[in-house]
Amino acid sequence: MKLIIVSNRVSYDEKPQSGGLAAAIQDTFKSINGMWIGWSGEISEEVQRKNGKYENIEYKVFSLNEKEYQDYYLNFSNEVLWPVCHLRPSYLRLIENSYATYQKVNQQFAQEVAANAKDQDLVWVHDYHLLLTGYFLRQTGHGGALAYFHHIPIPPLDLIRTIPHHCEIFSGLTSYDLVGVQTKNDLKNLFEYFNHYKQPGVVIQTQGEDAFYVEQDGQSTHFSYYPISIDTKKIEEMSKISIEEKEIHHLKESLGHRQLLIGVDRLDYSKGLENKFHAFDTFLKNYAAQHQPVLLQIANKSRSDLNSYQDLCSGLEALASSINGDHGNPSYTPIRYVNTVYDHASLTGLYRAARVGLVTPTKDGMNLVAKEFVASQNPEDPGVLILSEFAGAASELNEALLINPFHTQSVAQSIAQALEMPQWERVQRHRSMLKKLRAHTIQTWHERFIADLMEHCHPRRWRRTGS
Ligand code: F6P
Repeated sequence: MKLIIVSNRVSYDEKPQSGGLAAAIQDTFKSINGMWIGWSGEISEEVQRKNGKYENIEYKVFSLNEKEYQDYYLNFSNEVLWPVCHLRPSYLRLIENSYATYQKVNQQFAQEVAANAKDQDLVWVHDYHLLLTGYFLRQTGHGGALAYFHHIPIPPLDLIRTIPHHCEIFSGLTSYDLVGVQTKNDLKNLFEYFNHYKQPGVVIQTQGEDAFYVEQDGQSTHFSYYPISIDTKKIEEMSKISIEEKEIHHLKESLGHRQLLIGVDRLDYSKGLENKFHAFDTFLKNYAAQHQPVLLQIANKSRSDLNSYQDLCSGLEALASSINGDHGNPSYTPIRYVNTVYDHASLTGLYRAARVGLVTPTKDGMNLVAKEFVASQNPEDPGVLILSEFAGAASELNEALLINPFHTQSVAQSIAQALEMPQWERVQRHRSMLKKLRAHTIQTWHERFIADLMEHCHPRRWRRTGS
């Protein structure tokens, strides 16, 4: 029996991949041997394949052609599913026929899996790019254990309904034996959706507050929530070493007596970067006499072929420079805004060097930066986490200073509170959060998910299309 992971992004070399998904999955593979199937990140008219081994992971990746990249990845995944799941239907932009390419690429992924999977293997599909992969895999006749994990939020019913073809897409989830989402709230939204569109003959049954199942034609799918986490021990150890890096010493020297606030995000409108800058601006206006901290904002560029992302990028550059113009002087630049990609170890050193972690998404599935910031702190003199209540991580890390990123004035106040917080309080808050992160890690997340998959999978008899 082997574990086959299927996702759009795959880590198959030293290059850091964008987003938390690839790093998290890479960590789950440490204890097991398995195969990782997905997109190579390359675009080519002829399919180019790469097979190999990276660390203990066997990978099989393939290229997409230009049309697939445009319609499946950029359009349907990132201009339809992404904005709606992040409660931004105003960003929804449907290119006619992009759904057909989304289906086709999902079918392609399913065929790649079918060529590599035996019925005794566990197949685990990840994220919104591949909602239909399970459905197409069953069409190939695959009857083995099959699971899906949704890394991003599940929006309320009325928003799901704005997704063209949502009935087909969401009913496709019943091809899986197990479907996992990040939070209880995501599960509640999914439950309401299934109840609303319940067909005659379908049974939907809750199992306490933490799960429900959908049964149809004698086959059932179990739905539950599994908040994703981090390799806490690794991050704790890594940050102790990385804080000694030359680059971090230079950074500290350049700060002098000033305190450091840090933000690390993918450059995405869901991350609330503009809200963060406005709040920092308000903070500087109201509290600059006591504090002159520096905000280091690392924003990795992503999906740059989309207009909405290009606009965000130029808007943020303009905002950062206008704030620096208003509050800076020849020896003080309030915002250091960089698009450089840092390796994982260096990031943990930067987190440890910061007095405040500023995580302000307007909506986020989980947000692993918040968790890594906490795990990277020196427990004797920790920094303070300011965390949006709209990040999945907020339901676990409730000793952070929880904020509403739309309420600029109160975020500014929280920044002041964080900078003035006495050491005993920082230690206390940090201790409780670290305890949770040590108990609930990426390893326990993975073990619980696989245990549930083993419990809820049962051989399925599937007819191939047309037979
Ligand atoms: O973790 C959420 C996620 O959307 C992943 O599914 C995705 O791979 C990552 O963020 C980064 O996005 P992209 O692959 O579009 O750069």
